[in-house]
Amino acid sequence: MNFIVLGAAGFIGSNLCEKLLSMGHKVVGIDNLEYGNLNNIKKIKNHSSFVFHHKDIIKSNILNKVHGEVLVHLASQKIPRYDNSLRTLSDNDIMTNLVIKKCIQEGSKLVFASTSDVYGKNPNIPFTEKHDLVLGPTKIKRWAYATSKIFSEHKIIANHEANKINYTIVRFFGSYGMNQNLTWWGGPQSVFINKALNKEEIEIHGDGNQTRTFTYIKDTVNALYRCCIDEKANNNIFNIAGSPNQEIKIIDLAKLIWEIINPETNPKIKFIPYETFGKYEDVQRRVPSIDKICNLLGYKPKYSLEIGLKETIKWQIDLLANEK
Ligand SMILES: NC(=O)c1ccc[n+]([C@@H]2O[C@H](COP(=O)([O-])OP(=O)(O)OC[C@H]3O[C@@H](n4cnc5c(N)ncnc54)[C@H](O)[C@@H]3O)[C@@H](O)[C@H]2O)c1
Repeated sequence: MNFIVLGAAGFIGSNLCEKLLSMGHKVVGIDNLEYGNLNNIKKIKNHSSFVFHHKDIIKSNILNKVHGEVLVHLASQKIPRYDNSLRTLSDNDIMTNLVIKKCIQEGSKLVFASTSDVYGKNPNIPFTEKHDLVLGPTKIKRWAYATSKIFSEHKIIANHEANKINYTIVRFFGSYGMNQNLTWWGGPQSVFINKALNKEEIEIHGDGNQTRTFTYIKDTVNALYRCCIDEKANNNIFNIAGSPNQEIKIIDLAKLIWEIINPETNPKIKFIPYETFGKYEDVQRRVPSIDKICNLLGYKPKYSLEIGLKETIKWQIDLLANEK
């Protein structure tokens, strides 16, 4: 099959492109390299079935020049913990409008990257795809990200009804691993790993009792691939996550990473109050139900957090060594 991957040089995009090529598909990748980088696609850039365009989806007309039966839309602005809410709302909406138009014109299937953040403050865990989406006040800018993704989900579903586009919406739960962004953009794990490697204090936002369920990138991509190619995924929403019993407090994640890297010393931890980010609300527990994707598409997560973290730490050490 022919795929278009938007955000191809980013974390999930680069790993997905590798998987698609390994399965014999043709891939056109697009990325403006604002958050991704060429290093992420160095293994595949000369592959005969891969074409990469260093282009901005909004500022160029690149979407008019490429073709594919499946368009995977992974390009995004993300959680505005410190700033960025305006771009999150506007860029994400503009990009969604462009990809919907493209899919209507070409009859392509749209695979859209949404987020576990859409479940927001819903206290009823584990979250199934039918759960209510419970966001906080609009004065708290972190909700702009979830709002932008929910708005996109609605637009895609409405266009399925009005214009017959074929879609799959995936809600990722904290993915980590090879090619992850090394700043907070990529989530806490890469920042914690860097701090532990340098034997510096790991900064925990809040008291660290908030929990997350992380997903190793190989599991993420395995699940995402099924969503791209299996017809049973059509016009459905799926959580993509690791095993729900891997839920972990952020403080324990920091300690686990420290223990893997520096088993001989006690972890150095520093707590950063939420007030530092202005008005901020965190999600206290984030636990997925993965029953739907397991039962319908035959997905099964393979990687424990400990094994995934060990692989990720190895990758991060090599990356930093090559940068020196
Ligand atoms: N990584 C996760 O755990 C996670 C969790 C929830 C949701 N998501 C969603 O999954 C998708 C992929 O996440 P990721 O972690 O790989 O993010 P990422 O930032 O690493 O990758 C996205 C890529 O899109 C590119 N991009 C952004 N705007 C663009 C534009 N206008 N034109 C061209 N390229 C553009 C960026 O440069 C980046 O390389 C995003 O939509 C994100 O919101 C990811």
